[in-house]
Amino acid sequence: MEAAVLAWSRDLNNSCDSASRQYPILPQEGKRNILLTSALPYVNNVPHLGNIIGCVLSADVFSRYGRLRGWNLLYVCGTDEYGTATENKAREEGLTPQQICDKYHAVHAAIYKWFQIDFDYFGRTTTEKQTEIAQNIFWRLHERGFLLEDTVEQLRCENCQRFLADRFVEGTCPHCSYPEARGDQCDKCGRLINAVELGEPQCKVCKRTPIIRSSKHLFLDLPKLENELEQWLDRSFSTGDWTANAKQITRSWLRDGLKPRCITRDLQWGTPVPHPDFKDKVFYVWFDAPIGYLSITANYTDQWEQWWKNPQQVELYNFMAKDNVPFHSVVFPCSLLGAQDNYTLVNHLIATEYLNYEDTKFSKSRGVGVFGDMAKDTGIPSDVWRFYLLYVRPEGQDSAFSWADMALKNNSELLNNLGNFINRSAMFVTKFFEGRVPVMELQREDKKLLALVGWELQQYIQLMDKVKIRDALKHILNISRHGNQYIQVNTPWKKIKEGDAERQRAGTVTGVSVNMACLLSVMLLPYMPTVSQTIRDQLNAPPSCIQTILQGSGAFVCVLSAGHSIGSVSPLFQKLEADQIEALKKKFGGQQQVPVFDLNILTFIYIILSQGEKVRALKAQKAEKTVITAEVAKLLDLKKQLLIAEGKKPEPAPQKGKKK
Ligand code: MF3
Ligand code: ZN
Repeated sequence: MEAAVLAWSRDLNNSCDSASRQYPILPQEGKRNILLTSALPYVNNVPHLGNIIGCVLSADVFSRYGRLRGWNLLYVCGTDEYGTATENKAREEGLTPQQICDKYHAVHAAIYKWFQIDFDYFGRTTTEKQTEIAQNIFWRLHERGFLLEDTVEQLRCENCQRFLADRFVEGTCPHCSYPEARGDQCDKCGRLINAVELGEPQCKVCKRTPIIRSSKHLFLDLPKLENELEQWLDRSFSTGDWTANAKQITRSWLRDGLKPRCITRDLQWGTPVPHPDFKDKVFYVWFDAPIGYLSITANYTDQWEQWWKNPQQVELYNFMAKDNVPFHSVVFPCSLLGAQDNYTLVNHLIATEYLNYEDTKFSKSRGVGVFGDMAKDTGIPSDVWRFYLLYVRPEGQDSAFSWADMALKNNSELLNNLGNFINRSAMFVTKFFEGRVPVMELQREDKKLLALVGWELQQYIQLMDKVKIRDALKHILNISRHGNQYIQVNTPWKKIKEGDAERQRAGTVTGVSVNMACLLSVMLLPYMPTVSQTIRDQLNAPPSCIQTILQGSGAFVCVLSAGHSIGSVSPLFQKLEADQIEALKKKFGGQQQVPVFDLNILTFIYIILSQGEKVRALKAQKAEKTVITAEVAKLLDLKKQLLIAEGKKPEPAPQKGKKK
């Protein structure tokens, strides 16, 4: 308690505020230099809330916090643009892959902007720097003997003139005979499949039978790098902060033993393999994409190597969802270790579990869930979205987004707890003390509160330092709960009307409370940047209070001293009404989510689906081949008509034997 009182009356640290960021941010001698990345989102999809909380939002909160702490920090991210998925999306939308990337890169950037994700740089993987750096890493691996050559049997559709990525073949599962197994996995029995083992394989695009072709590929020799990897992992696990799931997933990969991994693909949309024997190939996205972190930094500053070839001075944090872990903890580190160029390797790997939607999964194809571009159409402010997503951040276990729960947390925690406390404290100053912070004479009870608040602040800092973002948020809400209780017990609105001693007491309680409000605004900054600023504007708080609170000893300091004039006060949050939430839930719950199509087209889709069912039934009954062929032809024709109706060009008619 004594310590808390001492801290409280410490002088305001008026050292210049380092609020403005200079360009370029580069590592500095004697500072904590932090390089922070969030997994590069696939460009060909609109991200859903689960993607947002898993990667960019979590990283944003941590980077805002780090900057508050005075760390020298660079946060980079960007869209992951190469690969089959982009090629297919381009085909679907009748655009070129480049056009698809341009379009969706802008969509991503706009969504993250709305969510106030404060990247230092948001780039993309389809740049010249990417080619340069990826090819350089490739050659270094090659020169050092970490690449192997092998022949691979692959399915190729002669009609579409391309090798089929695993997800673009369908056939009979070799294990359970399920007729619609994908090239990589069977949805029925769950087993992994090698595409060439599928019975009656079909190209998913044109439905023809692909042929088996062998082709030479390059493999990263993971077994040869395994030893070095394990030594490095031991060090990184013990000195860094790895989430439990990240450690566990990594260990299980190592336990199974590493096998060489193919790093080339027969595609066009990718970084070209520079080796003359592999002219028509590109790098596999999972070899190429993580190099995007480097190339994106290189597009931010030509001194990028100060971040990426500087493990002595730089600490690297990678944020991602758990399905990305092995690529960041095993495969990519092996590329960098093998290239032997003193690369910065991940020190802290922060992986979230999954966020579900209500009691199901987010699904683009089924139209279930809230996608990044829709959040803003709900009328709920960006800060409230951020708050709720962080409140249910899948930290340590899966969690779920629920509309009813979001309304509940908004109304109970934001409105009744946090907002109510801040608003009342500031209103007392305005109404009872002419807008000036009153003189405070601390009693035992106030000192106890200072100690309690100081403890919550310490918890918050300890948790945030360890990237326990959701847990730390609870301590902010604890402080306002203590504050509400403090006001309730001390009834300043009554005491102000009584004698001198009581008026004095009302002043102390009001002064302590409004200082707590200021403290809360700073603690809240990483989570709700707009609300945080609004509070400080209302309190007319000096910008230096941010540094004072989080860069000093991390104690609760009186930053609004007696006599300080506050600004004009207004409510921070709005109630979410039950009917409003019901309407939103309906809107985003499922089916309704196909407004891109008009009704005629919906009917059309229905007819196509029925025809598909008919074909499947005929096949299952082992009907005559001619009958099936006729129905299949009908189906294909319907699909073609649909494309025309949607204003898209259908696939060009098949032409046999044409080579480009
Ligand atoms: N695009 C991938 C995904 O969304 C993540 C790539 S992270 C990178 O799962 F490091 F490889 F770029
Ligand atoms: Zn095909």
